[in-house]
Amino acid sequence: MEGALSDGSGHPILLTASEIARRVTALGQEISKDYSGKEVVFVVTLKGAFVFASDLLRHIESTLDAKVDFVQASSYGNDLVSSGSVRVLGGDTSMIRGRHVLVVEDIIDTGRTIATLIERLHGLDARSVEVVTLLVKDREVPDRPAARYVGFHIPDVFVIGYGLDAAQKYRHLPEVHVLTDK
Ligand code: IMP
Ligand code: MG
Repeated sequence: MEGALSDGSGHPILLTASEIARRVTALGQEISKDYSGKEVVFVVTLKGAFVFASDLLRHIESTLDAKVDFVQASSYGNDLVSSGSVRVLGGDTSMIRGRHVLVVEDIIDTGRTIATLIERLHGLDARSVEVVTLLVKDREVPDRPAARYVGFHIPDVFVIGYGLDAAQKYRHLPEVHVLTDK
């Protein structure tokens, strides 16, 4: 993390576009190596993970037998605090049975979203279920599921940009910023 640069949005930058690009490239290489020779379904969680997933997938080696699917998981609505229940919509359930599944998530906070998805994918008889997340918030949460691949551990602050929103705004910012009141 390169410190509190800012830009036109007025919200301080936590992770620059180049820091993110370097880390996403490395994650793609690591995943390609681990899943080499295997069939894998990337399940992307909308909306937040769409930017991360599109960059990550282009660093997955072309030799990999990869498929991509999308689900919409929502736990926040327009609030900045978790509502406690998670809704999962969409997803081609016929793609999951007997396959290695890698969930692509933007951020793990309470872990409820990812826990719900993992349970659902096991229920559909996935051969294995792992998680790659761009961000994990550093906070004590009992029984929070661990992601196999993590881009960055960040402090317990609300972040925006690179796909992440606050009330649907800021998803287009190329960096990850800390949301400040202003
Ligand atoms: P969890 O279920 O509490 O782990 O929350 C995960 C979901 O909440 C993520 O997929 C995000 O969509 C959203 N979320 C959690 N923290 C943030 C944040 O700091 N900024 C934007 N969205 C967040
Ligand atoms: Mg979200």
